Amino acid sequence: MSKEKLIVALDTGDLKKARCIVNELSGIVKIFKVGSQLFARYGPKAVDMVNKRNCKVFLDLKFHDIPNTVKSAVESAKELGVFMLTLHTLGGKEMLKAASGVPKRPKLVGVTVLTSLNNEDLSYLGINRGVEDEVLELARLAKESELDGAVCSPKEIALIRKKMGKDFIIVAPGIRLIGEKTSDQKRVLTPKEAIKLGADYIVVGRPIFEAKEPIKAAEEIVKEISDE
Ligand code: C5P
Repeated sequence: MSKEKLIVALDTGDLKKARCIVNELSGIVKIFKVGSQLFARYGPKAVDMVNKRNCKVFLDLKFHDIPNTVKSAVESAKELGVFMLTLHTLGGKEMLKAASGVPKRPKLVGVTVLTSLNNEDLSYLGINRGVEDEVLELARLAKESELDGAVCSPKEIALIRKKMGKDFIIVAPGIRLIGEKTSDQKRVLTPKEAIKLGADYIVVGRPIFEAKEPIKAAEEIVKEISDE
């Protein structure tokens, strides 16, 4: 089961490199994230590459547009054969409802506050209620709009789990092992902490993708979370 909780982000614009990682890891990782870097260059080819190896695709294109456009985008993504995808909750209720109303759609998770932002960044954007409150309100909006869950940093998992209940999917990026460099991520915890707090999925990019030995790095994470 712990294998199913780890999503490895294929954060590269190079399909060959992504294919190598999927080939290497498909024995221990069952879900891969296809994001904008890979999708902008290769489109459905990138999704097919993962599906062909009997792994699932988490499509992280963070849709954020007018309701009609996002609804069509979800319909298109459904044809691609992805199991879950992201959209920005800040697109508003009408946009989220247009997306959630698509029949037989993939699972939809709403991005709340990016893990690269902190309170200071939010206040710069004119949002003064602080990260936690903002994440909670946006997760509530996702639930009211009948999305399946939300994306938040590990720091807000416990709060979201408590307020949104056990069936609400929580996806947590911003995962780092102890002592590892955080780069642009500002709200991070370890894989073990994130799962313990109630995440359904953790999204890990650079700690695996840029590791000297990606298999070893992924194995360590799977081992760490399988004790939870
Ligand atoms: O390399 P790292 O582990 O920091 O990558 C985290 C992944 O999670 C990236 O692919 C990033 O796009 C994604 N993500 C995020 N914060 C969000 C949503 C997605 O970091 N709120």
